[in-house]
Amino acid sequence: MKLVAALCGVVLLGMAYAQAAPFFDAARGPTPIDKETSPPRLVNQVNDDQRLKRNYSYQPPVIPHRIDGYQVDKNFNKCLDCHAREKTDFSQAIPVSETHYVDRSGKVLPHISTRRYFCKQCHVAQEPVPPLVGNGFRGDPADAASAPKK
Ligand code: HEC
Ligand code: HEC
Repeated sequence: MKLVAALCGVVLLGMAYAQAAPFFDAARGPTPIDKETSPPRLVNQVNDDQRLKRNYSYQPPVIPHRIDGYQVDKNFNKCLDCHAREKTDFSQAIPVSETHYVDRSGKVLPHISTRRYFCKQCHVAQEPVPPLVGNGFRGDPADAASAPKK
């Protein structure tokens, strides 16, 4: 009898534990699922001009400066004001690579390819916030060699 009671105890305890273990979503924090979270306010984008190492070949480099307010639409592309190859002598920006001048059939164009016109499709500025969820991705060490020279 005692043994049965003890076994029941273990089972009950297990159930209680399973129920008590709180569901924790790192992105929501402790806010219950039926309540709205108050996300942290966004502050200014990283603007330290330190080019970051790439983690794998063909990673679009992240943007080490603020881009809020930079117009990119069919009439004007603020990014190209500095990054177009013919502008970089003056702007001191890193010229977009040759790949940005190649169209989908492999033809080299005298102007930026429409495939690469909307820069923010691939390049993103950074927010100075701690990551919401852990990430063990380490990148490909072989690509460290391809990191930009600072
Ligand atoms: C006023 C000139 C200027 C404008 C406008 C500008 N950039 Fe830059 N950008 C730079 C300079 C200079 C650097 C070199 C690092 C630094 O000083 O911030 C740079 C660095 C970068 C890099 C890093 C490249 C690498 O290899 O690490 C990327 C990507 C980039 N910019 C994308 C953009 C995009 C996308 C836009 C438009 C939304 C933009 N930039 C607008 C001047 C500019
Ligand atoms: C379809 C995705 C895509 C778009 C759109 C795009 N890029 Fe890139 N960009 C990349 C990738 C991938 C790389 C790295 C490999 C390479 O050079 O092609 C890169 C590299 C760069 C570099 C670094 C060049 C170097 O030599 O280190 C700069 C600067 C840059 N892009 C700026 C821009 C600007 C400005 C625009 C908009 C006019 C733009 N990119 C549009 C994907 C893109």
